[in-house]
Amino acid sequence: MRILFIGDIFGRPGRTIVKERLPELVRDRAIDLVIANGENSAAGFGITPALADELFELNIDVITTGNHVWDKREIIDFFQMADGSRGPARRVLRPANYPKDLPGWGMYQGQKGKIPYAVLNLQGRVFMASNDDPFRTADRLLKEIDSKVILVDFHAEATSEKISLGWYLDGRVTAVIGTHTHVPTADERVLPQGTAYITDVGMTGPYDGVIGVKKELVVDRFLNGMPVRFEPATGDVRFCAVIVECDEKTGHARSIERIMMG
Ligand SMILES: [Fe+2]
Ligand SMILES: [Fe+2]
Repeated sequence: MRILFIGDIFGRPGRTIVKERLPELVRDRAIDLVIANGENSAAGFGITPALADELFELNIDVITTGNHVWDKREIIDFFQMADGSRGPARRVLRPANYPKDLPGWGMYQGQKGKIPYAVLNLQGRVFMASNDDPFRTADRLLKEIDSKVILVDFHAEATSEKISLGWYLDGRVTAVIGTHTHVPTADERVLPQGTAYITDVGMTGPYDGVIGVKKELVVDRFLNGMPVRFEPATGDVRFCAVIVECDEKTGHARSIERIMMG
């Protein structure tokens, strides 16, 4: 099975490059399953039900998120619609280790063709909000998963926390894929027990700014500390993703390849 994971889709530039490049990539590389982090798809801040539908129409199977998930309040109603269903709303995830009783789910189990798979969304704790322990949350949720193919989006800031979760889950999941920093890292590899790992896939969006935002605004904020309204950058748009190839019978990864397309 070949799985494509697309890094944080940022605003209209990110959505547009996905629309332009995804069909050929899926065809040329014989991709079976597409997962994307969509936490920045609404002009950099959050995701709306309409944008989730737009991404699903591009044949993305599951959308993960992270700390920006609540930026657009409409997503709460969307999550509540997903109760008990297998419809599109159920295929948008928020981190599983958020406080109990919040709307939404952090794990999805589905089937693509005849192959069962699961996607688990977790958020780190270092330099981030105080959510629950992602390590023990993973332990708990892995007991509920029947499928062998398991993809983890670890949305976290610190490289050390991300690498640690990679080692902790090695051999128990197909891939631990880092998101959130919006900067791709060159450390993709298959760990010894068969888990594909990368610290950060990188953003799918405009690279002429500061992690997606207009550079002048961010530089100003560093210079004078005054609050500014962030606006998305527009230029140098890149599509950042990884392709993980795995044995669907064992769930172990054979390879992980980093992709950056302009
Ligand atoms: Fe992000
Ligand atoms: Fe994030």
